[in-house]
Amino acid sequence: MNTPAPSAGAPIDRAALPALFTPRGQDTHKGSFGTVGVVGGGPGMTGAALLAARAALKTGAGKVLVGFAQDASPLPCDLLQPELMLRDFRSLLDEDWGVTAWVAGCGIGTGALAANALSELFVLRRDAPLVLDADGLNLLARGDIRPNWGTGPVVLTPHPAEAARLLGVGTDQVQGDRPGAAWRLAQRYQAWVVLKGAGTVVCAPDGDLRINTSGNPGLATAGTGDVLAGMLGSLMAQKLPLDQAVPGAVWLHGAAADALVAQGTGPIGLTAGELADAARALRNGR
Ligand code: APR
Ligand code: MG
Repeated sequence: MNTPAPSAGAPIDRAALPALFTPRGQDTHKGSFGTVGVVGGGPGMTGAALLAARAALKTGAGKVLVGFAQDASPLPCDLLQPELMLRDFRSLLDEDWGVTAWVAGCGIGTGALAANALSELFVLRRDAPLVLDADGLNLLARGDIRPNWGTGPVVLTPHPAEAARLLGVGTDQVQGDRPGAAWRLAQRYQAWVVLKGAGTVVCAPDGDLRINTSGNPGLATAGTGDVLAGMLGSLMAQKLPLDQAVPGAVWLHGAAADALVAQGTGPIGLTAGELADAARALRNGR
């Protein structure tokens, strides 16, 4: 942690994100808005993958599939979101479902099945954008998977403890220089880095650093990170330019929490699953 990071550029706010609010063209169909593939949700963590998938759908993806990191899908259908297509990871990886952006790692676990599934995904995704979250990052930190993920865009979404594991330092060191930690990870992995927590830092692979202005402590509850990962995959599947999609998802996620707090649905007791509806309303100008 020696070389100083460049100073942060323009803050991430609504005015900087016109692509989030571009109206849909009339002559469009579900194929126009991409297909998100979520690979995660190991035993006991089924909900993590569902939260990411539901958020991807409600922030505008045309189709969303889940490949659970289990021998068989634990559910035939998501009864609260039956539009989702639920599979086991083998089925998602072995067949061509036309996925245009991947979200991997949410609740995936740290065993051999998870490591093998992610390594396989890195090869088969070709140039499709990839979000790597949660235990996907822990596997990377342990050296159980390698960052040989090709040339397509990659977004790493560590919380401070995950960033500390990746950098081999203490969480206090990450928190003591959040822009520096995000910048180092972006350099090391040649990836977009979203260092989460109050004042989320977004660093582009070229080193461009920005700080998010939305969000509040209502987000300090289980599953909000999974929702963010789904939103990132969704906006990339919809082919927003990366410099709108990545900060755009981060801002939208925080702004959804701000909107919920303004209506009394938080900060105390806000739940992760409520964020997607609020984000949808914001994208639709409400
Ligand atoms: N202010 C603003 N934003 C906040 C705040 C806060 N006080 N607290 C949390 N957030 C936001 C973060 O910026 C991030 O977007 O909430 C989200 C929390 O994400 P995670 O820390 O990944 O939490 P979670 O969804 O519970 O993670 C699920 O993945 O990372 C692993 O160990 C984690 O197993 C757990 C799983
Ligand atoms: Mg998380």
